[in-house]
Amino acid sequence: MMTEEAFDVIVVGSCMTDLVSQSPRLPKEGETIHGRNFFIGFGGKGANQCVQAARLGAKTAMVAKVGKDSFGDGYLRNFKDNGVHAGFVGQSPDAATGVASITVTDAGQNAIVIVAGANALLSEKELGEALPAIASAKVLLCQLEIAPQTSLRALRMAKEKKVTTIFNPAPAMADLDPDFYRLSDVFCCNETEAELLTGRPADTAEEAERAGRELLRRGCGAVVVTLGARGCLVLKSANAAESLPATPVAALDTTGAGDSFIGALAFYMARYPQMQLGEMARRAGHVAAASVRAMGTQSSYPHKGDLAGELF
Ligand SMILES: Nc1ncnc2c1ncn2[C@@H]1O[C@H](COP(=O)(O)OP(=O)(O)OP(=O)(O)O)[C@@H](O)[C@H]1O
Ligand SMILES: *[C@@H]1O[C@H](CO)[C@@H](O)[C@H](O)[C@H]1NC(C)=O
Repeated sequence: MMTEEAFDVIVVGSCMTDLVSQSPRLPKEGETIHGRNFFIGFGGKGANQCVQAARLGAKTAMVAKVGKDSFGDGYLRNFKDNGVHAGFVGQSPDAATGVASITVTDAGQNAIVIVAGANALLSEKELGEALPAIASAKVLLCQLEIAPQTSLRALRMAKEKKVTTIFNPAPAMADLDPDFYRLSDVFCCNETEAELLTGRPADTAEEAERAGRELLRRGCGAVVVTLGARGCLVLKSANAAESLPATPVAALDTTGAGDSFIGALAFYMARYPQMQLGEMARRAGHVAAASVRAMGTQSSYPHKGDLAGELF
């Protein structure tokens, strides 16, 4: 089957429903306590990044798996509401939609149980169905919240078709298949992931640069290391490292800032292919900074109209 529309950004990745309870403290083993507030949010690194790219104006598609249950139905509606093409999002009768059950205390502590559920069933079959769309896309974006082999396969498919790839090795895993580096045009990680992957500290600017160079040597086209409120570092082999400071903002909730940054980076790579990577990262930092000024994950992600015109 051929798709007529060429997508700017295709994400092969996860969808999770966040079940968030606020309580005075964390319950002890065997204990039941009363919480104050409860809300259901849309999360999962793959879907977060896809939604951020879509809100900036990218034509996006998601390749994912949810359960044939009410959370799965809700997630499909969320993609529709955000203008994300969900024709490659399957609903499996064999597993529940991925969930993150989150308890947040008034003091800001949290305890989280994640069940990957249907995300773990995303396989070659679904990728095969999406192949024509992947082949004609501008950018393919993957993370590690689905089976690593599925992400690897998606990156391979994209590279074979000369589609630009972005890989975000999150959540971090120590023994990453070396092919991930070679298949990444841009390898974008945070400092924790850089440390785990290189076995070196990445706390200071010098350490982060050394870790980034090590990742670059493993075969990526470029490396971006995000450093939270300190901004990010961009490395390309021939060039000196570029350090882009973060936009100073009154941070309210930094959850999901990394996904906002990566979704924005994918948007710029697809829509402004001539722009320097450092400039794209600078702009993605502005987008992510806007996201930390509001509560929640996807609920905090800015739309194009919320942002300064100079970013477009
Ligand atoms: N407090 C902040 N003020 C301004 N910008 C921020 C702040 N925190 C994060 N950012 C922006 O978001 C980008 C990504 O943040 P970070 O490095 O914390 O990612 P992350 O650790 O993957 O995030 P998370 O796991 O919290 O979603 C940073 O490079 C920066 O541009
Ligand atoms: C980096 O991302 C990981 C998920 O892979 C997360 O657990 C960790 O807290 C993040 N690190 C920082 C410094 O935000």
